[in-house]
Amino acid sequence: MPYTFSQSQQLFERAQQSIAGGINSGIRLMEKPVPLYFEKGAGARVWDVDGNEYIDYQLGQGALLYGHAPAGLAEAIAAQAKLGLHWAAQSKLELDVAERLQQMVPATELVRFNNSATEAVMAAFRLARAHTGRRLILKFEGHYHGWGDEGLVGFANPPSTWADPEPARVHPSKGIISAVTEQFVVARWNDIEHLRQRVADYRGQIAAIVCEPAMCNTCCIEPGEGMLAAIRALCDQEGMLMIADETITGFRFGAGGAQAYYGVRPDLTVFGKAIGGGTPFAALTGTRAAMAKIISGEAMHAGTLNANPLCLAASRWCLDAVIALGPEHPATLNRLGQKLMAGLRALADEHDIPLRPQGPGLAFHTLMVKPDVAARPVENYRDYIQLQDVPRWTHLRRCLLEEGVRAIERGLWSISLAHTEADIDEALARAAVAFKRHAATWPAA
Ligand SMILES: Cc1ncc(COP(=O)(O)O)c(C=O)c1O
Repeated sequence: MPYTFSQSQQLFERAQQSIAGGINSGIRLMEKPVPLYFEKGAGARVWDVDGNEYIDYQLGQGALLYGHAPAGLAEAIAAQAKLGLHWAAQSKLELDVAERLQQMVPATELVRFNNSATEAVMAAFRLARAHTGRRLILKFEGHYHGWGDEGLVGFANPPSTWADPEPARVHPSKGIISAVTEQFVVARWNDIEHLRQRVADYRGQIAAIVCEPAMCNTCCIEPGEGMLAAIRALCDQEGMLMIADETITGFRFGAGGAQAYYGVRPDLTVFGKAIGGGTPFAALTGTRAAMAKIISGEAMHAGTLNANPLCLAASRWCLDAVIALGPEHPATLNRLGQKLMAGLRALADEHDIPLRPQGPGLAFHTLMVKPDVAARPVENYRDYIQLQDVPRWTHLRRCLLEEGVRAIERGLWSISLAHTEADIDEALARAAVAFKRHAATWPAA
């Protein structure tokens, strides 16, 4: 029998009286039929308040690289909690974590900690501007860099703006500082000539180019041949900093992050999510030269809870877990993910569902292709918007959820170090039921 969600439904209704809109992060409203309330997790599984068990590929929006409640992490946090929750001062723990980052990520010479990647991105942009004395940051359509005013410019440019010769600087939120959009140049992902032209148009004014090394937030689109090298070369030629936002890719793509996976060396890197394994933790790392204005204090960087010992204790445990895997990481995650992708593709073919899994495996996106559009490679944000059938994916995702398989609402799937072959096999068996029901009930009345 498909799962039902009456307890979650009741809590969500109750929450309307105490929590604005009933949720604490806008994206959580995307979960259908109702934003779920969870009670516990273990390894690759998570249980909601209705007692439904899910094989989890949402994984706390990717933060739970180590799975739910991995053995040892709670103890590491508890041991620290007994010694103190917060000092707003220094501890040896922060050196332990910073030195591990230096060991793991070659471009990390120096580190600063924050509590969210949104903050670390803000710090990176401020630092790049201070470093170069320039105003503009170049970013790519479809790349997400946190929910701050600066992180979302051009993230979701509506098709009505696409005819403009320059990609638009649309911000999806009301209430932003109005001048913020003018502090950005927006470019299309995976179009090197177009990127060169954007840089030439604003020569001498761009402080940094920022990207997700793989565009995980929009259809998990990997960098095309030469893309990251072209960004690096342009930054070197034009005196700009290269900022890699590894909030999703960091430690998921291996101990050295996506920068090691794809072989590129940024000046500044943002780590979030997996660096804290589910605790509110993030880092800005970079070369000594790029960090100079933070060292001198000219670019302010602060935060009451920065380098909080609880998060540091968690992060030290997480980084040690990645280091201990050695060279088999991320190959194992990729193998498991590719098996899941192949199984989903086979089920889609069997039921004539136009679903195309795309990505390296350790993370991937399930693109549902619109009925009236010819399928083609998805190389950038615009391809994705033109191809994706949102209502149909939402319907299939709900069928999957009702059979106990949970992917990220937009279609991204992440594999954790806790997932096994058996979890993949079981997910595919459950998905077989979900795909069959989806095929029989779509289009929904
Ligand atoms: C690439 C990227 N950068 C930044 C962020 C912001 O991270 P946080 O929500 O922890 O502030 C996210 C969050 O999903 C992200 O995916």
